[in-house]
Amino acid sequence: MTDAIGLPPPPPVGETALKPGTFAGETVFVTGAGTGLGKAIAAEFARLGASIVIASRKDEHLEAGEAAMKALGAPVLTVTCDIREPEDIAAAFEAAAGAFGLPGVLINNAAANFPVPAEDMSPNAWRTVVDITLNGTFFCAREFGRRHLAAGTPGSIVNIGASYAWTGGPGFAHSAAAKAGVKNLTESLAVEWGPYGIQVNSLVPGLFPHEDMTADIQGNLQRTNDKDVCQPALRVGQRQELGWAATFLASPYARFISGHTLVVDGANWQRRLLTNPPVVTVRDQMGKGPFEP
Ligand code: HXC
Ligand code: NAP
Repeated sequence: MTDAIGLPPPPPVGETALKPGTFAGETVFVTGAGTGLGKAIAAEFARLGASIVIASRKDEHLEAGEAAMKALGAPVLTVTCDIREPEDIAAAFEAAAGAFGLPGVLINNAAANFPVPAEDMSPNAWRTVVDITLNGTFFCAREFGRRHLAAGTPGSIVNIGASYAWTGGPGFAHSAAAKAGVKNLTESLAVEWGPYGIQVNSLVPGLFPHEDMTADIQGNLQRTNDKDVCQPALRVGQRQELGWAATFLASPYARFISGHTLVVDGANWQRRLLTNPPVVTVRDQMGKGPFEP
């Protein structure tokens, strides 16, 4: 590609634009922070002085997140929590408040997803993804919002989204619909809770491959050719880039930004030609045989 240089690489992990100690004395509650992007986001808050609460279901993930935060010297609490269960969430916030004080920042990162043609998707598969991704996000936000309203304290919520909230997501109809709901929820809550000092934003990652991606998602990605040349940036995202965006949105320097969805994807989701590549059905993309009712 003549003259193509792509977007420059980011500074290395460990650097930050925010002042050291920006989150000192603050507690940040991150769902799904034992793996992938949630862990990377939690790490950036930890580097800036926050105490971290990690909420998710699996012991091995909680242990991995705890080890990562400890390696950064951050105080950390892990709580077993299924975000589909409001009682689990209430107990997790109670434990967080007991350990560190009411979290001032909530990162709604946990989500569920697997590739499946819509016609093959069972009702329970649909329900499960929507329940975790959309309902779980609302239940966590609700718990956070109610506690701050009762205490009369401000707070900041960052909901992790996906760009197929705007475009639809063939092969991921459940997740795309749920993420569209998350974007819309962000806008409702930002207006409802702004008067109470609660800022609500969304953060949308582009393609950020990582070793914790589920086998289903990895398998789907492996069907794509070289990832870098398929992006306008000529590269995929590096996890610290998402963490930096999350810490900025929740920082004192972004207090007047609310109801916004920030996309960190090197403009990949705007990529569109008038003549796109030939249409391939989702079944064919996934190597499935003919539909069998
Ligand atoms: C079709 C599937 C399926 C699959 C599960 N199901 N996996 N259907 N294809 N690959 C169906 C099951 O058959 C069942 O329906 C229903 O979904 C619920 O499955 P369970 O295994 O009972 O659910 P549960 O134990 O609650 O686990 C939830 C899960 C699981 C979503 C299925 O994968 C999980 O825990 N995921 C968490 C991590 C995750 O998904 N990360 C991805 C985020 S990445 P039936 O009818 O049989 O009862 C992301 C990136 C977006 O969002 C962009 C990517 C580039
Ligand atoms: P991941 O590694 O699979 O992380 C998902 C996390 O959610 C896991 O730590 C999991 O922990 C937790 N989780 C799932 N169901 C839960 C439940 N019911 N209750 C509590 N926790 C639950 O995925 P990721 O790539 O880091 O994705 C993080 C976020 O970024 C998601 O919102 C995803 O949609 C979004 N995203 C990612 C990409 C990407 O390229 N990676 C692109 C677009 C959007 P447990 O299993 O321990 O519960």
